[in-house]
Amino acid sequence: MKPTLYTLLSLAAVSSASPAEKRANSASAYSSNSAGNYKLSSVAAPVQGSGSPGSESTWKLSIDDTSSGYKQTIVGFGAAVTDATVTSFNSLSSSSLQTLLNQLMTSSGADFSLMRHTIGASDLSGDPAYTYDDNGNTADPSLSGFNLGDRGNAMASMLATMKSLQSNLKIFGAPWSAPGWMKLNGVIDGTTNQNNLNDGYLSGGTGTSGYASAFAQYFVKYIQAYKNLGATIDAITIQNEPLNSQSGYPTMYVYADESAQLIQNYVGPAISNAGLSTDIWAYDHNTDNSDYPQTVINGAGQYVDTVAWHCYADPLNWTVLSEFHDNNPSVKQYMTECWTPAGTWNQAADFTMGPLQNWAVGVTAWTLGTDSSDGPHLSTGGCATCQGLVTINDGSVIYQPAYYMMAQFSKFMPPGAIVLSGTGSYTYSSGGVQSVASLNPDGTRTVVIENTFSNDIYVTLSTQSGQEWSGNVPSESVTTWVLPASS
Ligand SMILES: *[C@@H]1O[C@H](CO)[C@@H](O)[C@H](O)[C@H]1NC(C)=O
Repeated sequence: MKPTLYTLLSLAAVSSASPAEKRANSASAYSSNSAGNYKLSSVAAPVQGSGSPGSESTWKLSIDDTSSGYKQTIVGFGAAVTDATVTSFNSLSSSSLQTLLNQLMTSSGADFSLMRHTIGASDLSGDPAYTYDDNGNTADPSLSGFNLGDRGNAMASMLATMKSLQSNLKIFGAPWSAPGWMKLNGVIDGTTNQNNLNDGYLSGGTGTSGYASAFAQYFVKYIQAYKNLGATIDAITIQNEPLNSQSGYPTMYVYADESAQLIQNYVGPAISNAGLSTDIWAYDHNTDNSDYPQTVINGAGQYVDTVAWHCYADPLNWTVLSEFHDNNPSVKQYMTECWTPAGTWNQAADFTMGPLQNWAVGVTAWTLGTDSSDGPHLSTGGCATCQGLVTINDGSVIYQPAYYMMAQFSKFMPPGAIVLSGTGSYTYSSGGVQSVASLNPDGTRTVVIENTFSNDIYVTLSTQSGQEWSGNVPSESVTTWVLPASS
C-alpha cells in the first residue's frame, strides 16, 4: 500500500491495529516547535515520492539505509539526575511524581533510557556541599565512615524507581570532588589551591603516597550501596570535568596521565575485584582537548573503552568526535553534559543532533529537573541558569522546550537503533537544516529533522534502498519522521 495522508489518518483511527503494526506499515510525523504549539504533536506524515511542495522552499536529504550506511548503535537519551532534581521531584505529591516519572521513563512520554547522576554534591545541590565519606574531614582510609546520607539515599531511591519503569535504563555516575580528606587542599570546595587528589602523582608517582586505594574503594562502596537500593550503576567517570578547578563549588583537577594511572592501577582493579561489572568512561569534559581521553584510553585501555564529552568548548566542534572515532574505531562516545538555558528553543536539539551526527551513542542534558529558580544550587557558586528539562513550580510540573526537543529523538530512536550515514545537513547564518536518521530494531526508520529557519520547508528524502519520501517540516521545529520498513 502506498500511504497517503488519507490512508494514514484512517489507519490511525483503526483502534484494533496494534501500535507496532501501525509503525511498521505507515509513515508518521511528530513535531515540537519554538512557538510551543507543537509538543510531540502528530503532524502531516511524509508521502512517498516527490510530493507537492507548492510555493514552499525545498530541501533535499539522503540517507543510506543499507548496511554500508550503518554507524553507531544507540544506547539512549536522558539527563542528569542532580540533588536539585531529586529534591524538586520529591516536593510533588506521590501521584504527580508518578505521572511525571511515567512521562519521562516510558513510551507515554520521552521514553528516556540513559541517566547521569551526581555522586555527592554538584553545583546543583543545596547547601552544604558533601560527599559520601566526609567523616568530619578526618582521614578515613578504611572508609569506615562511608555513608550515602539522606541525599544519597534519596538519589539512589529515585534512580531505582526510574529503573523499575524503564528496564532498558542505563545509569552512570560522576563525582564533582573526592572527599576533602583525600585531597591535597583538604576540602571539597572553596579554593583552587592544591585542588588535587592526594595520591602521590605530583611527588613520587600515582599511588606512592596518599589515598589512591581509598579513592578506588570509594567507588566500590558507592556502587554497592546503590545496588543494594535497587539502582544498578552501569558506568562511572572518576571525575566530572577533570580540567576544571574552581572554588565556588566542588571540583578537583586530575591530570590525564594521573587519570589513566588511577583507573589502570586502582579504580579498574578495585571494581573488578569486587565482582562488579560497572564500566569506567574517560574524561567527562570539553571537546577542545581530545588528547586527554586519548591518554586515558592509551594508558587504561584494559578498563576503558568509552569517552564522555561536554559541550562548553568555544568554539564548540562536534567533529572532534568523528576524528576521535577515526583514530579509535572501537571506542564508544557519549555527550554527557550540556546545559539547557531558558529562552533558546533549539539548544537541546543542537547538543543532541551534533553528537549523533558524529558517532555518539547517547546524550544526557544538564539537568533533568530543577525548581522554578533553576535550583536549588550551592549558595557559593555554580549554575544559576541551568534550567531542568522539567521544572517543578509549587507542586506543578512544567515541561520545558528542551524536554520536547530531546523527546523528538529519544521517543523515536530506541536503544539498539543503528544510526545511518546521511547527507544534506547545512546551516547558514540565517538558519538551516540538520538531520540524523536511524534504522530501528523493528525495521522502521526514523529521520529527525531540525529546521532552524523561520519558515516552513518542504523536505525530500531519498534512501539508498531506493525510496523517496517528501513532506512539510514546520518553521523552527524539530520534526521526526517514522518511515515503515523498506521491504
Ligand atoms: C573541528 O574539529 C576537526 C577535528 O579536530 C577539525 O578538523 C576542524 O578543523 C575543526 N573545525 C573548526 C571550525 O574548528
